[in-house]
Parts: sequence; structure tokens; C-alpha cells
Amino acid sequence: MQLGVLVSAGLLSRQVELRAIHEFLQSAAERTSGLVIEGEAGIGKTTLWLAAQDDARARGFEVLSARVGETESVLAYAAVADLLGDLDPAILAKLPDLQRLAVDRVLLRASSTEGPETDQRVVAAAFTAAVEHVAVEKPLLLAIDNVQWLDTSSQTVLAFAARRFSGRVGVLATERCDPDGGTSPTWLHLARPDGVERVRIGPLSLGGLHALISARLGRSFARPTMVRIAEISGGNPFYALELARAIHMGSARAQPSLPGTLAGADASSNRQSRRASRRCLAGRRVGGGSNG
Ligand SMILES: Nc1ncnc2c1ncn2[C@@H]1O[C@H](COP(=O)(O)OP(=O)(O)OP(=O)(O)O)[C@@H](O)[C@H]1O
Ligand SMILES: [Mg+2]
Repeated sequence: MQLGVLVSAGLLSRQVELRAIHEFLQSAAERTSGLVIEGEAGIGKTTLWLAAQDDARARGFEVLSARVGETESVLAYAAVADLLGDLDPAILAKLPDLQRLAVDRVLLRASSTEGPETDQRVVAAAFTAAVEHVAVEKPLLLAIDNVQWLDTSSQTVLAFAARRFSGRVGVLATERCDPDGGTSPTWLHLARPDGVERVRIGPLSLGGLHALISARLGRSFARPTMVRIAEISGGNPFYALELARAIHMGSARAQPSLPGTLAGADASSNRQSRRASRRCLAGRRVGGGSNG
């Protein structure tokens, strides 16, 4: 494990998950492998996903990445375009004309009306071939954040390609799922039936939350307050930070208080945070309790 890389990324308290990433990258350096990092909103999926990319680069991987946004699920080939956009043009030059045209169309560099028609199979074949060309030269990491919002055409292409990869390719995905729900079904399958591992991210420990809050807010809280933050947030780093910020702002107004629920912290967060909090509140029962 390239621990220096991970520590410099500000990653705390994730030994189990880091071990899974370490094993995944070791495996992907030799053969096609997959890892899905799953968990509830704000639990730390993207943080680990980014750290894994740093680690992969340090190991000599080529990394192609796509961060899928909630609004992109209706844009055809949005994620595939992000992945292909990072590719060395010399690799694309190796593709047959029809496939190169397909890539140019996905990247909106060629008109969709001139020349022969491009259907989804050509895009999928072009994507598979491009990835395999890279993997001949060096291991390749395909990193996709938030696959629950993948547009359907990208999902079809990635599913097609993943089943056909035979070289040194790692597919690393994050998937948001319900805090109380089980593992969601996946479209991601490799040629090897046992090729895709899943790691479910659990809560941060009290010590982890303490370190996170100290690093981000530049201050620490008394142990009873930390225990309460850990209880209310359920060890979720995003919510713990929101709660800590709310208390911090309360202290600045000389009225230190700990919101009894995530909804209390919610009132002081920005609009994006509020939306995410509501999503989580729908899936988590939070004990009331007193402030303090
Ligand atoms: N292990 C960690 N070390 C340091 N900071 C962390 C860790 N895990 C999460 N965080 C912090 O917690 C916040 C939420 O993390 P992150 O964005 O990775 O969650 P997520 O699971 O990707 O959420 P979402 O489902 O909304 O995309 C971020 O501010 C992040 O920096
Ligand atoms: Mg995320």
C-alpha cells in the first residue's frame, strides 16, 4: 500500500476499505478485476475512490475517470465520453475508422449525420478495443463515481465492455445505496464470475470522527459532545461535519448547542447539503435527546 499517498489525501480510519483497494489494485495489475465501493450518502465513498486513483497512479496505472452527476442520467454516453476524453489520442488512432468515428461522435467531435451510422454496438466495441490497447502497455483503472446515476447508454457500453475485458483492467465504481437496504443488484460483471468484489463502507469510529472534525474545523470538542455527534450522525462523516459546524457556529454566537437531530444541523448547512440530508433522514431514524 502506498500509504503516503493515502495519508496525504487526508484519508482517515479506513483500514478495511484500504485493504480491499490494495488487493483490488494488486489483482488489476495482473488481470481484469472489479471493485464496487458502496454505502449511504456522505459515508465517504468518493473520498476512498479518489484515494484509490492516487494509489493506482503511484503504481503506474493509467487512470480514466468519470464522476456521474444526478442530472446526467438522461445524457446519452455522458460517462463514456468522460472516460474516453482522458484517453491518449495515440490509442484512439489505433482504432478502425468506424470505431474512431463512433468515439468522435460520443465526444461530440464529429457530426452524427455525416458518414455511416453509429449504433451502440460500435461504441461498445470501440470502447472495449481502446481499453484493451491501453492495457497492453500498462494496467488501466476505469474509475466511475456514482454508478447509480449512470446514463443508460453508458451503462450498456460499460456492461458490454466489462464482460469482454481480458487484460490488466480494473473497474472501480462507487454506488450510493440505502443505509438500511441490502446490496443492490449490479449490471457490472466480468468474464470471471468472481471478478467483482464489493466493499460496504461502514461508520467512522469515534476516534476517526474526532480526527476528521479536528482536521476540518481546526478545533476539537469535549468527549461527551463527540459521543453525541457520533450517536446522532451514526458515524457518517458528512453528517458529523455538519453537526460539528452547527455547534461551532453556535459557540461563535456564545450559545453553544448540539442539535438533537440531523435536522437541527440541517438548518445551518448549504442547500446541497440540505438536499442530501433530507435523503438520508428519510432512511435513518435519529434519536431526539437533549442539546449539549
Ligand atoms: N475517511 C475519511 N477521511 C477524511 N475525510 C473523510 C473520510 N470519509 C469521508 N470524509 C469526508 O466526509 C465528507 C463526505 O465524504 P464523501 O463525499 O466521500 O461521501 P460520499 O459517500 O461520496 O457521499 P455521496 O453519496 O453524497 O457522494 C467529505 O467532506 C469527505 O472529505
Ligand atoms: Mg460521493
